[in-house]
Amino acid sequence: MSKQFEKKTIFITGAAKGQGRGVALAFAKEGANIIAFDLGEKITYPSYNKSSNEDLEKLKQDVLAAGGKIEIFTGDVRNAEDIKYAVENGVKSFGSIDILFSNAGICAYGASHELTEEEWDAMIDINLKGSWLTSKHVIPYLIKQKKGVIIYNSSVGGLRGMNRISHYAASKHGLVGLTKSQAIELAPYNIRVISIHPTGVNTPMNDGLAEMEGMTPIEIAERSAGNLLPVPWIEVEDVADSVLFLASEKARFITGSQYVLDAGLLTR
Ligand SMILES: NC(=O)c1ccc[n+]([C@@H]2O[C@H](COP(=O)([O-])OP(=O)(O)OC[C@H]3O[C@@H](n4cnc5c(N)ncnc54)[C@H](O)[C@@H]3O)[C@@H](O)[C@H]2O)c1
Repeated sequence: MSKQFEKKTIFITGAAKGQGRGVALAFAKEGANIIAFDLGEKITYPSYNKSSNEDLEKLKQDVLAAGGKIEIFTGDVRNAEDIKYAVENGVKSFGSIDILFSNAGICAYGASHELTEEEWDAMIDINLKGSWLTSKHVIPYLIKQKKGVIIYNSSVGGLRGMNRISHYAASKHGLVGLTKSQAIELAPYNIRVISIHPTGVNTPMNDGLAEMEGMTPIEIAERSAGNLLPVPWIEVEDVADSVLFLASEKARFITGSQYVLDAGLLTR
């Protein structure tokens, strides 16, 4: 039986852990070639662990073991040269890019008047500017083939205010403006652009936030989310299923939209 994304290539930032890893494995199972991008060196803010070369290498081994195809690249989404290198060499290996899952991100607490300029800049530069920078280098390939899908991983924090994470919420609201504007610019080229808005997801980021607050991961998820459905968080597989759908032909008329996976949170 042919697989849904056979001969398609997806470029994923923040691929080594959490949702990026989950999406990479799900697309590999559906036959897609994976271009995986994540940090190779430690960054200091926020204090919790981001990914390492070993995490990316582990993803590679898992994708290969499942019969998939993958190229891994280390770098920082804030660095244009790193992104350009990964995009160009990924295309050399697989011939094209069809889908961008722009997912790399950080989160940290701090009252807005107590944040340092460095903390503000790091949040906006990774979550918002890094997403734009990645798309900037992928879009010319999508335009050339007159087809493609860009999916930004925002958050429920991209659609509402959140206590003590104003810089995060601002960066994630920014992705909504980017999504809607690029949807207008790119529709003539048959390129769709969508933002997704998950509630708390059970990933190392949630563990990191819990550690920062001296709470357990479940406590942090319940405090920051407050889902309507009786779950503290959703799983990476729930996010992956949505991304599979949004990238597929079944979603061919969805563009410019904010796709909410919030277990009812935003209804309150
Ligand atoms: N976990 C949640 O509760 C939650 C909820 C909604 C949205 N999100 C968003 O989903 C996305 C993925 O988060 P996650 O939950 O999988 O977190 P995670 O921390 O498990 O994974 C994030 C990945 O991004 C990478 N990354 C961070 N900064 C980077 C940089 N400058 N350059 C390249 N890679 C970088 C990390 O190394 C890590 O592998 C983020 O944008 C996050 O804001 C998370």
